[in-house]
Amino acid sequence: AKYLYQVGKNNSLLLISSLKNSITCHAWKGVSCTHFRGITTTPFPEFQGDSRFKSHADLHNASLQNPDHFWGTLAKSRLQWFQTFNQVKDCDINKGHIRWFMDGKLNASVNCVDRYAEKNGDAIALIWEKDEPGTEEYVSYRQLSQMVNKMANMLKSFGVCRGDRVAIYLPTSPVAVAVMMACARIGAIHSVVFAGFSAEALAGRIIDADAETVITSDEGVRGGKIIPLKQTVDAAVANCPCVKRVFVYQRTGNPVPMGKLDISLDKEMASQSDVCEPEKMGSEDLLFMLYTSGSTGKPKGIAHSTAGYLLYAGITQRHVFDYREGERFGCVADIGWITGHTYVVYGPLSNGATTVLFESTPTYPNPGRYWEMVQRLSLDHIYLAPTSLRLLLKEGNEWVKKYDRSSLRKLGCVGEPLNTEAYDWYNDVVGDGKCEVVDTWWQTETGGIALAPRPSAPGAKIVASKPMRPHFGIQPALMDKDGKELTGSNVQGALCIKSVWPGMARTIYGDHKRFLDTYYNPYPGYYFSGDGAHRCEDGYYQITGRMDDVINVSGHRIGTAEVEDAMDDHSQVAETAVVGFPHDIKGEGIYAFVVTMEDINPEDADTLRDQLKSIVKTRIGGFAQPDRILFTPGLPKTRSGKIMRRILRKVADNKPEELGDISTLVDPSVVEILVQKHEMI
Ligand code: PRX
Repeated sequence: AKYLYQVGKNNSLLLISSLKNSITCHAWKGVSCTHFRGITTTPFPEFQGDSRFKSHADLHNASLQNPDHFWGTLAKSRLQWFQTFNQVKDCDINKGHIRWFMDGKLNASVNCVDRYAEKNGDAIALIWEKDEPGTEEYVSYRQLSQMVNKMANMLKSFGVCRGDRVAIYLPTSPVAVAVMMACARIGAIHSVVFAGFSAEALAGRIIDADAETVITSDEGVRGGKIIPLKQTVDAAVANCPCVKRVFVYQRTGNPVPMGKLDISLDKEMASQSDVCEPEKMGSEDLLFMLYTSGSTGKPKGIAHSTAGYLLYAGITQRHVFDYREGERFGCVADIGWITGHTYVVYGPLSNGATTVLFESTPTYPNPGRYWEMVQRLSLDHIYLAPTSLRLLLKEGNEWVKKYDRSSLRKLGCVGEPLNTEAYDWYNDVVGDGKCEVVDTWWQTETGGIALAPRPSAPGAKIVASKPMRPHFGIQPALMDKDGKELTGSNVQGALCIKSVWPGMARTIYGDHKRFLDTYYNPYPGYYFSGDGAHRCEDGYYQITGRMDDVINVSGHRIGTAEVEDAMDDHSQVAETAVVGFPHDIKGEGIYAFVVTMEDINPEDADTLRDQLKSIVKTRIGGFAQPDRILFTPGLPKTRSGKIMRRILRKVADNKPEELGDISTLVDPSVVEILVQKHEMI
């Protein structure tokens, strides 16, 4: 595509892109944006006029063949540096050694806040969509800058230093964003823990990160309910000798007991200066860590560094969603997950965008919440999880149709496979067939979107729940059982990436060996995602699901081992095995097979089920509770003692006819019992 910019009437900026067979026009005027639908690729001004880049394919090839030029150019123009880098990358994928923008010095908060506060301080940075509809609050870049600086000074005055880890257990709110940015400003590494995790799970993460500082609020508010966050933190901190201070922000203002470690965040911030010199951070200094579940019991603190992550977050937010200046970006993820980090906070803010902080749920106060919000806030983009689409489509189209959604241009989704029914509803009903549905595949570890239908070559189609194409810098590979790369189309295997890109994770905090063992050693020379995928014609990828013992419940990764460990603690439980099963709304549900010490009476079964669910709630969080629990005298095991989960998955999925060969089991008769019991629960 060729792009031509013109300054039109009323200072509007006209961009005319002439493509092979079509002409598309886009017009901007100040903050408001009028547009014509059907844009294919957002232009990269950096490569405009360079005869080497005539098409999307040229750009994508350059990102792989000459990454130093591609990413080096973008890093210089998109990020603000105290000192530019003198080497674009130092990577050896064979060793899982990833370093970008060597010797560069920058600060993420300067890039996300200061440069926009200075340029146009009145522009809206955050729209806090609070739990009660119609009570939203707006925070300008200038106001955000003041909050960040005061917060940074407050942290410093209590002795928080560069390199310290700060645990954040807060509702999605401007204060949470300001805390993340304040950490970045003083060089502390933030570790946001989703405020739905239990006290025990929070304590485990605080201890693993050896965090001295915790930041929380009195309470949270979600779906009209009060959530006692401070109480959970108190219970967690009681078991964390490393914690020296707990800052408490007043979200509701209801009185909560304050102990000797507790400090009122609101009071302390008020007396601080709103000028705090930003630390000059190295490109590779860690910006944050975020825990995610793996195959084994202990969650992994995935660590991201400053420059590479920030660049990749910004590039993907702008180009995958074709984000244009002045638009309102509505990613409804909680800040406690990676989607919240990259597409609520760092991506949009690094582009000077207006980003929405969604505190509520898709069904509060009714199933029209998202679309009423789209109308009220006039959102240009919405980015959500398929699980909420599946939930909402069951409620009927009236909840959508009664609101004006004409402001929407792009409909994003992430976290789990987007089934055809949900895709069609999103496209036809929510988008009235006028918006592009952008299904994005990525992970906590990839830092940002790795596969998506956009940006792509002009005319490249989006097909329901099917095609996803590699983003710039991403070269996917599918591996067979013997560890060999599969070639051609219509092949299925383990999804790996054989290129390096700036946003990739650098390590697991405190356990680099586990990092290498999990991601780099399974297929030497490749990054292994843990997912399986199918490559269709034309190089499109379709995700087939996790290949490890991780279950994807409503887009959240839950390790089967974590749930098993929790239930094993019950005195009546001898052994457990947990698998995923197809679930109408959640995508996957949790199915637990439990061997009890002694046979349990049928009338006691429900009590024990409740106790087991409650243990999981206490150890991990309510969202990890099993949907179904089956009591059995034994589990299907091989002679070497390995549980055959393949069989359990078939039982849970109601497919006894597909059990396959069970002759290698020590006791094949156990399978018959499982099938019968499954039919009864
Ligand atoms: O299994 C894939 C699934 O979610 C996993 C990553 O989970 P997490 O690190 O929590 O990050 C979620 C949000 C980025 C992946 O390994 N997943 C993510 N996106 C998709 C998906 N599965 C299918 N289609 C997707 N679009």
